[in-house]
Amino acid sequence: MSGVRENGVIVAIDGPSGAGKSSLTKLLAKRLGYIHIDTGAMFRSVALMARRAGVACEDDAALAELCGGLDISFCRDGESCRVLANGEDVSGAIRTEEIGLLTSCISARKPVREALLSMQRKMGKKGGVILEGRDIGTVVFPDAEVKFFLSASAEERGRRRFLELQARGEAATLEETIDKVVQRDRQDEGREHAPLRQADDAIAIDSTDLSIEEVLELMEKTVRQRLAAAQQG
Ligand code: DC
Repeated sequence: MSGVRENGVIVAIDGPSGAGKSSLTKLLAKRLGYIHIDTGAMFRSVALMARRAGVACEDDAALAELCGGLDISFCRDGESCRVLANGEDVSGAIRTEEIGLLTSCISARKPVREALLSMQRKMGKKGGVILEGRDIGTVVFPDAEVKFFLSASAEERGRRRFLELQARGEAATLEETIDKVVQRDRQDEGREHAPLRQADDAIAIDSTDLSIEEVLELMEKTVRQRLAAAQQG
């Protein structure tokens, strides 16, 4: 590794849903003063727009057209980060279970992956960013200076998701929430294009029995070490 990019290093955080990527990326970005790019939110935005336009998940031509006319951006709002699709704040609308499942299907389509790949590379290439997703360390930025692969058992991820749904007043049982986590894992790992996979040079962290603070400390220490090494580089 030699030198640093214009604004710092690129940090890739990949892993299955419910492993804690979003919370950790947010906290780590704040500690480092880095930009947080939630690539899942970008796929979710495509799914929401496709749903509204009545575009089916398998209709690649219509999906390509839809992505061609879609501008996705992030804007900071105090402590939180809002997602804008063609200027509309879709931060809440993209978080439903229905959109989550549709996103798993839509994100497997080649034209969608291609369109978002070039957007993500443009957003991250100067460094000083943390990108969270499924294929950041393997496809989007295989040359990222720091890569983490964050996982936890399906039961623990389902339990965390269930608590989140309960807090939002959404009806669900623990059993069906765990089933959905397993179903989504299967779709994300089994797809042809950019499947969920740990990069060979990623640092694997199993968060099942670790607190957020413990994982955050580990991540921050690693990034600061790599950053120092790259600056000397
Ligand atoms: O991280 P999330 O749950 O918001 O992601 C929603 C869906 O998008 C999930 O099924 C996986 C998919 N996704 C992807 O395929 N590639 C990414 N880089 C990010 C998310």
